[in-house]
Amino acid sequence: MTVGSTPGELATYLETHKAQVDAALERAVANLIDDLSAEVREATSHGVTTGGKRLRPVLCVSAYEACGGRIAPATYDLAASLELIHAYSLMHDDLPCMDDADLRRGRPTTHRDLGEDATMRAGAALIPAAALQALGACRALGCDDGRAVAVTRALLEAAGAGGMVGGQWLDLLGEGQALDADELDELHRRKTGALLEASLLMGGLAAGAPSRVQACLREYGAAIGLAFQIADDILDATQSAETLGKNPSDAALGKSTYVALYGLEEARERAEMEVDRALEALDRAELRAPMLRALARYVIDRKK
Ligand code: IPE
Ligand code: IPE
Ligand code: MG
Ligand code: MG
Ligand code: MG
Repeated sequence: MTVGSTPGELATYLETHKAQVDAALERAVANLIDDLSAEVREATSHGVTTGGKRLRPVLCVSAYEACGGRIAPATYDLAASLELIHAYSLMHDDLPCMDDADLRRGRPTTHRDLGEDATMRAGAALIPAAALQALGACRALGCDDGRAVAVTRALLEAAGAGGMVGGQWLDLLGEGQALDADELDELHRRKTGALLEASLLMGGLAAGAPSRVQACLREYGAAIGLAFQIADDILDATQSAETLGKNPSDAALGKSTYVALYGLEEARERAEMEVDRALEALDRAELRAPMLRALARYVIDRKK
């Protein structure tokens, strides 16, 4: 099945949905803020509400729509729960004990502006906040308890030791090591792929997608998740801090990356193969989903 959309349509789609996600994130941070001290409040706002492509929430909304869900404000609240986890992962990723980065989204990292203590605490507060946000949004969308729990479970499993957090440990343990292909696949699958896969699955589950479609959405998510991290590694190796809004650092930190293992050309080919795999999964689900198709390409064509 080949159903396309023009680059202009994709740009408008991204812009429109990003604005709605940003509004949902403002609501989420406002809900959280009464419970936080002034410094942690500032760090939360710094890490969550400024910048970012908002790709994970946009994918969640697109999957929800593709599976027949009717978009409501609560759809964006659900999608924003993914970004709360993502934002915390970046705040911690940039800390000196991890990647020790000074620049994120074109400005100083949260700990550089507001200190390590506030950044650690703000990040920790975002994890349960994200789970509660997903649960509340599912209820507002009319999901029954079973479905709300399944959606929230998908988020927490992806964020946990079997997913993003575990992938971050592997990433740090892999510094200065030459990981083999299987080890690197596993690292990327957990570090980045798991949350992207959950973005699709959560949207599909909330819309009541049947299990056959859920399985295809997972496959699509896993494929673009891997493609996304390969692209991140390629951008790190080829682009400037000015373009990326973050300092390229993989080589200096001795990170295990697709570029280090395969070289640039083969890394690009592998990213293309994953995009093809993602599109085939949509075909198998018989989902027309023009925007999910366009987003799969965007994952590797993006400039930052
Ligand atoms: C960067 O994620 C971290 C990775 C998982 C590779 P994004 O490239 O989605 O970062 P933002 O949210 O757009 O800044
Ligand atoms: C981070 O990967 C993935 C996360 C789970 C945050 P990177 O360390 O490669 O992300 P960047 O390049 O700093 O955005
Ligand atoms: Mg990192
Ligand atoms: Mg990093
Ligand atoms: Mg990177």
